[in-house]
Amino acid sequence: MTKERFRKVYGRRQGRPLRGDRQEALDVLYPKLCVDKSILTKEANIDPRDWFDDVETIKFEIGFGNGEFLRNNMLKNPNTGFIGAEPFVNGVSAFLKSIKDDPHDNVRVFMDDALLIAQSLADDTLDGMYVLNPDPWHKSRHHKRRMITQNNLDVFSRILKSGAILTMTTDVDSLAEWMCTEATNHPDFEWTATCADDWRVMPDDWYQTRYELKGIKAGRKQSYLHFKRK
Ligand SMILES: C[S@@+](CC[C@H](N)C(=O)[O-])C[C@H]1O[C@@H](n2cnc3c(N)ncnc32)[C@H](O)[C@@H]1O
Repeated sequence: MTKERFRKVYGRRQGRPLRGDRQEALDVLYPKLCVDKSILTKEANIDPRDWFDDVETIKFEIGFGNGEFLRNNMLKNPNTGFIGAEPFVNGVSAFLKSIKDDPHDNVRVFMDDALLIAQSLADDTLDGMYVLNPDPWHKSRHHKRRMITQNNLDVFSRILKSGAILTMTTDVDSLAEWMCTEATNHPDFEWTATCADDWRVMPDDWYQTRYELKGIKAGRKQSYLHFKRK
């Protein structure tokens, strides 16, 4: 195993004790929909199409929180398989509760570090990735914990198909600048924006999570950054 595979997950894994309905959703749906950690390998040879019956494209959301964006995406795009990774059990249970009455053939969930999945996937297996409002880790000594770094972009670039889009958002201006700089400096990614509105204006077809709406209500501006895998 490489050192990266023991990368620590920073931030909370559990908050308030789960209420009955959330615990039930976790108990019933997680075993059906989870990506089993034991199948993840260091060989980077896993084809995620094997996890779905019949999908045309595969997209990966890192840190889905309560899963509102993920749910909307999976319901609107039944021909796309969605993988969601989120280490916070309260978020995963909220998401599973929200989809308990929906069809869910096209979603798989991983309750741990997204990097464990990313490092296990074979080359060119993803049609898109979302990193929405990642933890900002404001202090400079914590910047190395940020999700968007050159090392992680190396992994994302390997698993994304050429032309696939990596979408990143934040309402923290300094983090928007950081993510833009990191991705622009990476040789495999190209910013798709041609004018300020391309990153300042909410894309059509977007779904705002409670977290995003809270930031906007507090007067913060959300940045929507789309980078193409060259
Ligand atoms: C600020 S929240 C944003 C949630 C959601 N994306 C949204 O926009 O509403 C950041 C999320 O990233 C998750 N996270 C942090 N480190 C992670 C990791 N290594 N892998 C996957 N998710 C992670 C956190 O648990 C948290 O739920």
